[in-house]
Amino acid sequence: MRLIQLSDTHVSARHRMFEANIEATATWLRENAPELIIHTGDMAMDGAGDASDLDAAAAWHARLGAQLRAVPGNHDVGDTLAIKPEQVVNDARLEAWRSRLGPDYWVEDRGGWRLIGLNAMLLGTGHAEEARQFAWLAEVIATPAPIAVFLHKPLFIDHADEGPRGYWTVTPGPRRQLLNLFSTARVLLIASGHLHIHRDVMFGDTRHVWGPSASFVCGESQEPELGGSRRLGLAEHVFSADSVTSRFIRPEDLTDHTIEPHQQTLYPRAKVTA
Ligand SMILES: [Fe+2]
Ligand SMILES: [Fe+2]
Repeated sequence: MRLIQLSDTHVSARHRMFEANIEATATWLRENAPELIIHTGDMAMDGAGDASDLDAAAAWHARLGAQLRAVPGNHDVGDTLAIKPEQVVNDARLEAWRSRLGPDYWVEDRGGWRLIGLNAMLLGTGHAEEARQFAWLAEVIATPAPIAVFLHKPLFIDHADEGPRGYWTVTPGPRRQLLNLFSTARVLLIASGHLHIHRDVMFGDTRHVWGPSASFVCGESQEPELGGSRRLGLAEHVFSADSVTSRFIRPEDLTDHTIEPHQQTLYPRAKVTA
């Protein structure tokens, strides 16, 4: 089984400065026809602020001609009160996502593997759906099959016990809750987006892949240096019976634009943006 991880397309009908990149990505996807595309969030530029961006994202992704599974990012459904007080995850934002793009957390058995999509944006919100997702995860993780997990934010940057990394990762409390559940199962891949950085690192038996963005990279506003490669592209994951390998793919005609020249137009209240 082979699938393509697409991330951080930031589609918008109103703001189209990165359109050449996502169109070059769409061309590659149509030509290579993966059996499944998994999108690790920020499908829309500002779906949390204007649902018409979710409409644009749904329409853009429908044109790829492939089966798509997606989990939401902060720009799709918002974030926690501490990180994004003006766009907190709430019922209306979750419903706006679900009605256009399907479930925000899901499980699919394919090729002898269990694929699990998580809504990372619920973590740390205290929203009722956060507890419901954890209870659901405790059930679906109970399988002898190898597991691949997909979510928007990475669990950590350098190591599982590190302190809070602010905007960039899942916070330590929910991170520990997730890792405790994962430790009861055979989680061999954790694939995330959000950082607009590509990285592929093993921690124990688990491959942690940061899927690259398809729209823009972050420049000087992304501090401190997080490692990995700030380059646009896709990630391919190839699954065998007991292992998974990953590969960075660079579609033709991408340009590694940075967000900073557009930051005040797109995200005027944000200090950092990914
Ligand atoms: Fe993000
Ligand atoms: Fe993003």
